[in-house]
Parts: sequence; C-alpha cells; structure tokens
Amino acid sequence: MINGKSSIIPEHIAIVMDGNGRWAKKRLLPRVAGHRAGVDAVERIVKAANEIGIRYLSLYAFSTENWKRPKEEIKGLMGLLKYYLLKKAQLLKQENVRIRFAGRRSDLSDEVLSLMDSAEAVTAECTGLQLIFCLNYGGRQEIIDAVNTAIHSGHIGSISESLLEENLYLPDVPDPDLIIRTSGELRLSNFWLWQSSYSEFFFSDVLWPDFNRDNLIEAIKSYEGRERRYGSFTV
Ligand code: IPE
Ligand code: IPE
Ligand code: MG
Repeated sequence: MINGKSSIIPEHIAIVMDGNGRWAKKRLLPRVAGHRAGVDAVERIVKAANEIGIRYLSLYAFSTENWKRPKEEIKGLMGLLKYYLLKKAQLLKQENVRIRFAGRRSDLSDEVLSLMDSAEAVTAECTGLQLIFCLNYGGRQEIIDAVNTAIHSGHIGSISESLLEENLYLPDVPDPDLIIRTSGELRLSNFWLWQSSYSEFFFSDVLWPDFNRDNLIEAIKSYEGRERRYGSFTV
C-alpha cells in the first residue's frame, strides 16, 4: 500500500455473474442460451485473470436461493456445469489453474459431486490462478455451517472471529479485495457475507455473457485508484 492507495492488482477478485437471462431475453432466446453464453464468458475471464496474474478468482455460479428457479433452468445450469468440468479440467490443468469449490455439498447430485471432486483432484498441484466456483453457496449458510462445524468439533465455548474463520469453506483463501457484479444490479445476493467486510465493489452495466477482458481491466483500474482505510486513516 502506497499513500493509502492499493496500487497493486487485487489478489482475490470475486464476481457475481449476473444478467444471463436478460441477455437471452434480448435475443428472444431461452434463458439457458444465456447461461451457455455465460460459460464462454467464464472461459474468457479465467484466461484473462490468469494472464493478468490474479491469484484467486471466485465466481458465484449457483446460490442457495437459485433452487427457487424452474426445474428446467436448474437442469440446464447443472448440465452446463457438468459439461464445463468434464471438458475443461484438463485444459485448465495445462494452464496451471487450480479448481476449487465453495458451498454446501448437500442437494448437489452425485454426478455433479464426483465431477467436482475429480476436477479438484486433477488440478490439485497447479500453482497458478485458483479458480473458485461458488456452487450451492450462500453467505448466511456458510456462517451457520462454520458455527456448527466448530460446535461439532468440540468448541462449545464462545465463538471468536478466528475460530469462525478457521471453519469457513475455504479458510486459506484471502478475503476478496474486489467484488464485481455485472448487469447493473446493486446487491450482494448472499455472496461472501463474512469475507466482504472490507472488499471494494465495482458494478458494471454489462450483462455477464458480454463481459470481456477490457471490462475486467476497467474494474481492476478502478480498484487501483481506491484508498483502503480499514477503519483507520492515512496521512
Ligand atoms: C446469472 O444470470 C446466472 C445465475 C444466477 C446462475 P441470471 O440467470 O440471474 O440472469 P438475469 O438476472 O435473469 O438476467
Ligand atoms: C446471484 O444472482 C446469484 C448468482 C449469480 C449465482 P441472482 O440473479 O440469483 O440474484 P438476485 O435474485 O437478482 O438477487
Ligand atoms: Mg440474476
């Protein structure tokens, strides 16, 4: 940190990939076509983030609330996820990208769980970008799960910040420095609730399927100009 300005690229970028449905609607296509185009955007942004030297990229792919959507759409989303993990894990390994997941495993099908496990295993030794898919993820649920894990492992006293953090889904991953949300919506929608206390935010009107490398760079540039004070002050 120089003069309070971050001046370095964010270590962890988190993205609420929103706007797939509206992208499809504009083209009179079914919503799943928007999700398909969203997968292309994922590939584009993962490649760019890895090249730029981002250490952690977390992508909000399916929230605990997204089960409220029509069965057909959920099936389409899970199908795309399975396709992505099956087809891309090897390629990501070649690009030195490590795949990880955050979220509740319950409710996900055995087929999805086994593809997640194998994508994680195939890329476990990769030392480049860590690509985190937040899947069946909810920030409130994560906090509840962390408290319950702590209780079940014998901590029946009071909960501290460090004890809670040790029991989050990915305790070794640093808090997001920059959270991007696409499609013009200005909310967190239950994403990284604990971890976002001091995150910087960037809201883009671009719909996720159209989000590209230049949009990512614009967000990073905006971040670089911010002054992060963490409750203190700079002279
Ligand atoms: C984001 O796009 C993708 C997921 C939530 C999985 P949406 O499907 O929410 O797109 P909009 O918000 O309806 O445009
Ligand atoms: C947030 O988007 C969840 C993901 C991107 C996975 P939503 O489209 O589900 O959020 P709301 O319903 O507009 O808040
Ligand atoms: Mg949405």
